[in-house]
Order: sequence, then C-alpha cells, then structure tokens
Amino acid sequence: MTRKIGVIGMGHVGSTVAHYIVAGGFADELVLIDTNEDKVVADATDFEDAMSNLNAHTNIIVNDYTTIKDADVVISAVGNIKLQKDNKEHDRFIELPFTGKAAKAVGEKVKASGFNGVFIDITNPCDVITSMYQVFTGLPKERVIGTGTLLDSSRMRRAVAKELSIDPRSVSGYNLGEHGNSQFTAWSTVNVLGRPITEIAKERNIDLEKLDEMARAGGYTVFHGKKYTNYGIATAAVRLANIIMSDARTEIPVSNYREEVGTYLSYPAIVGKKGILEQVQLNLTEEENEKLKTSANYIKTRFESTMK
Ligand code: LAC
Repeated sequence: MTRKIGVIGMGHVGSTVAHYIVAGGFADELVLIDTNEDKVVADATDFEDAMSNLNAHTNIIVNDYTTIKDADVVISAVGNIKLQKDNKEHDRFIELPFTGKAAKAVGEKVKASGFNGVFIDITNPCDVITSMYQVFTGLPKERVIGTGTLLDSSRMRRAVAKELSIDPRSVSGYNLGEHGNSQFTAWSTVNVLGRPITEIAKERNIDLEKLDEMARAGGYTVFHGKKYTNYGIATAAVRLANIIMSDARTEIPVSNYREEVGTYLSYPAIVGKKGILEQVQLNLTEEENEKLKTSANYIKTRFESTMK
C-alpha cells in the first residue's frame, strides 16, 4: 500500500517535517505545497538531490492540491515568520491575523480536493487553528488533530529527565490544555523510576513549579536563539503521522475535540488510522481539572471571536 503525505507550508517547520519524512523513508509519495513556488520547487529538487544517498525513495509532487485527494495524512505547517519575529509578548496568537485567513483558504482547498484522510495541524495558535480547519475542511472532528501539547509534553519530559539525569523517554506524563500560555503539566500523570514524580520530588527536593515553567517557556527559549522553532515540533508531527499511517493505536497527548469542554484542546487519546479512536479519561486532581477548564474556556472564547 502506498503511504502518501501532504505538507502545506514550506517554511522552517514544513521543510523540516518534509526532510524528516524523506530522510526517514516514511512516505512513498510526498506532496509539497507553498504559495512561494520558487521555494517549494527548490526544496523538492534539494530532496531529490538527497535521494541517491538515502535508503528509501520518495516520489515528490509539487503544488498540486488535487493530488492530496488520496493522501493518508495532510499536515499544515503554514506560518508567518515576520509576525513570529515580532513576538515579544510570547504569545502564539500573534500569528492569528495571518494564519486564521490561511486556515480558511487552505481548509477550503483541502475540502475541494476530496481529501478523506487525517488532517494534522501544527499551525499556531494550534488549538484555535485546528478548530478552524475542522470547520473549513468539513472532516469529522476525530480526523482533525492538532500537534498541541505533544511538544510541550516532550519539553516537560526533557526538563524532568535533565533534573534526574535520565533519558526523557523514561519519563511518562502529560502537559494538558492549550498549546500556549494556559497549558500546564498535570503532575498527577507523570511517572519516573516506576513511581509518581510527586513522591520523588518530595524526597529529592525538586521544584515541580520550576519544571512546569521550563516546559511552558521551552518554545521561547529555543525561539530566542534562532527566532523560530523547528526540530522539536517537526519530530512530534512526523511521529503523529507515522502513528496514523501504521494504525498504531498509541496513547498520545494531542489537540482533539473533547465534548465535555466543547473545544479542541490537548488531552491524551488513542490515535490510529482513522484519527482519534478513543478518548482517555485521566484521574486528575481538583486543581488540575480547574486549570483544564480555564484553558478550555480561553481557547473556546478565542475561537468563537475569530469565527465571528
Ligand atoms: C513551539 C511552536 C511550534 O512551541 O509553537 O515550538
């Protein structure tokens, strides 16, 4: 069976996503789309230059929306680097005036193509744009997913792992809510060394608040150095695409529509070929539930005012 992925937006993030797919041999066909034709043709040629030194071959198609009709996954990496550069406030909503319009235009084109796979949104502000893509693509809610706090959870796992001098893959647990400033680490879900981190933190005098802040601000730390972030987010998005294409049924924290809060937000779900297959129900503390509600209300209000 042919594995086919579309990537829309070939900026820092989209081109890193595409490179990881090509280098990893994760797709047989890769459709690259960007409004800057010169850039996307150049990237495609550059990838083809890589091909003879790779183990896998990828057929690359450029700027043709009709060809995503039979794609398994389409990824939106649309963004606006100029707006990001002005981001002194540390707020992903700074991109919304551009990305909100783009989500409508791209979403309608994706719909017109007849695409019927799973749509992944990276574009920020992630939860609001994911909600918009669901409306404009007309896809069922379970087949539109935002990368959300998959990235923030890995930033949290990095912070915890560094503190304990262990591999971040040996840290499990989630950041929940908005891929933005109202997110939080749900410490009741975090386990290390076979035990809840809350116990270990007490014994070893670890300041969990500080680690939570490191996860939340992680993007801005990277951003300060190079004015964009790409490797962390691209790896998260491609992992999600691979989970979908291989129907892995993995539990993963992504932005998905939760009926009980009436919005997209990040919360773990089981993901496979048909998108969100099952929603996990965590046993959160009262305080965590409050934080989740606050984050949900924030996303909902911003989405509603954007759609007006
Ligand atoms: C970040 C961007 C993707 O957090 O929002 O790196």
